[in-house]
Amino acid sequence: MKGRVAAVTGATRGIGFEIASELARKGATVIVCSRDIESAREAAKKIGSGAHPSALDISNPASVRAFVRRTVARHGRIDILVNNAGYPFDKKIWYRQFHETADGEFDHIVEVDLKGTFRVTRAVIPVMLKKKSGVIISISSTPAIAGHVEGAPYTLAKAGIVAMTKHVAIEYASRGIRAYTLALGNIATDATFNSMSASARKKAAQENAMKRWGDPKEVAKVAAGIAGDDFSFATGNTIIIDGGAVLL
Ligand SMILES: NC(=O)c1ccc[n+]([C@@H]2O[C@H](COP(=O)([O-])OP(=O)(O)OC[C@H]3O[C@@H](n4cnc5c(N)ncnc54)[C@H](OP(=O)(O)O)[C@@H]3O)[C@@H](O)[C@H]2O)c1
Repeated sequence: MKGRVAAVTGATRGIGFEIASELARKGATVIVCSRDIESAREAAKKIGSGAHPSALDISNPASVRAFVRRTVARHGRIDILVNNAGYPFDKKIWYRQFHETADGEFDHIVEVDLKGTFRVTRAVIPVMLKKKSGVIISISSTPAIAGHVEGAPYTLAKAGIVAMTKHVAIEYASRGIRAYTLALGNIATDATFNSMSASARKKAAQENAMKRWGDPKEVAKVAAGIAGDDFSFATGNTIIIDGGAVLL
């Protein structure tokens, strides 16, 4: 990863932080993004010398454009983009039945998870095209593939990410850009494991064949693996990381 520049959205905590840390550990220059520059600074400091903080709100088109301009001005390139940022877990929206979901609730989640991912991807592709190379990894979720009894807006937004990856993969493969979706099961972060009751955690652990939660570091290892050259003849893939719950 030496000489490569990787941008990770929502990288101050949880899965994004671990992906940023792993890419930096492998030698990449990593742009640690957050809506809050102070949090980004703190996270970048924890990661070490290869990490640089940057402000980015993926729901704001001007912020996305400024982020890409700034990154290219400072680092000259973006070789790896990890679309990790997602709308914060909102119990009120999550536990609504499909037919009770309000337009506004649907819009909030689509605005960040789907449109945000679209905006950043769209802005970064021209930078990658200049170097005729790039890897775009977007974080989705297993409900996007298998459906779920809760969280319909989230499922729909994350399903759009799977389609976006396939589209980008096919459209840009001959110009050196590869794209992947990581569809995650239960990964223990503050947004999930640490905000649940002990019994809910236990129940969630039983959902997969391994009967446990995933560690964000396990996601980070996969992300760093596919970002490297070993995955050179695979693109458009949806890689499920869920302890064997959803099998294709
Ligand atoms: N944990 C799981 O079990 C699980 C399962 C399936 C999929 N996922 C997906 O994995 C990703 C990371 O999840 P996590 O559990 O680590 O959650 P998290 O702690 O909630 O992290 C989400 C990140 O998104 C960022 N974010 C939110 N809105 C944003 C916006 N408008 N612009 C830019 N950044 C924004 C936040 O960064 P700032 O607040 O610093 O801006 C935050 O760091 C999410 O896409 C989530 O949907 C997680």
